[in-house]
Amino acid sequence: MTAPYRAVVRGCGSYLPARVLTNAELARKVDTSDAWIVERTGIRRRHVAAEGEFTSHLALEAAKRALAAAGLAADKVDLIVLATTTPDSTFPATATRVQAALGIGHGAAFDIQAVCSGFVYALGVADNFLKLGQHETALVIGAETFTRILDWTDRGTCVLFGDGAGALVLTREKADGSATQRGVLSTHIHSDGRLYDLLYVDGGPSSTMTTGHVRMHGPEVYKHAVTKLAETVREALAANNLTAADVDWFVPHQANKRIIDSTAKKLGLEPGKIILTIEEHANTSAASIPLAIDAGVKDGRIKQGDLVVLEAMGGGLSWGSAVVRW
Ligand code: UT7
Repeated sequence: MTAPYRAVVRGCGSYLPARVLTNAELARKVDTSDAWIVERTGIRRRHVAAEGEFTSHLALEAAKRALAAAGLAADKVDLIVLATTTPDSTFPATATRVQAALGIGHGAAFDIQAVCSGFVYALGVADNFLKLGQHETALVIGAETFTRILDWTDRGTCVLFGDGAGALVLTREKADGSATQRGVLSTHIHSDGRLYDLLYVDGGPSSTMTTGHVRMHGPEVYKHAVTKLAETVREALAANNLTAADVDWFVPHQANKRIIDSTAKKLGLEPGKIILTIEEHANTSAASIPLAIDAGVKDGRIKQGDLVVLEAMGGGLSWGSAVVRW
């Protein structure tokens, strides 16, 4: 069945907190080294939110920049889907804070929790609302203050993450069903809750009444990532009758440069087609894909008409992919 509408990206924006934390600084706090972090992950530095700077603040700035890039007034937005694992509060949704700060009192605003896959999930949700005609203009945001849930004594996790936010503005257009028409061509999302214990937070409102800290079995997550990410990109391309040769830009979740490189190699994607921000941003969870998209758009690599493929995997485990004609 062809959906009546297609969700077309009109603009993007991103925001990074001012404070930059280098590997060298981290090496003074925990038993690690710049050489280890760079060699095993590709990360050189990360941004860290200031005291009093919350996920909603990062999200709001990214959203404002995306609206400005789209040339759209905030009151046109009737759907805000915000992917985050680090909400301002347990409830209400951080998306409602952003909605209020943008002066919007109509439509719907809610959060999506799929950790590092959150942006792909959020895009999938918004795409379904737009393409079936229930909403007209969506803000899809990935925003995290992930450094707030790190155990700074655990070198296996604290060197990997950073803070930031990115956003896309999408509006609907009558669909012609072709792969050449601009817009979201497909989204695929998956999870396997049997793998919950590989990457989780050891706290929560219902269990411990605390926020908890990130815990990860890195090498096992790594193994799942390299197989599942290649699989979901293959299914995404096949669903659109496309091949790796059709891809203009590959925008992966930025968890580990080695995972990104080996996924691209498996898929036969040229290294020059990968948008990489991991060196500067580290892993910003749900924010990493829209931050990378914005970097690629701002420096002129991603252009209108390009075929852009997104993928991510994170806690749950959850994973997914999206194909967008820019
Ligand atoms: O975004 C959500 C999805 N997350 C991911 O996709 C992350 C997937 N996992 C990974 O990216 C990698 O597993 C890590 C980067 C987390 C770890 O890299 P690794 O190559 O798998 O290292 P490892 O955990 O197998 O550890 C190798 C060694 C160990 O020492 P021994 O036992 O060989 O003596 C660790 O204790 O490296 C040690 N190590 C470190 N050394 C210096 C672990 N972390 C550090 C560190 N600095 N920060």
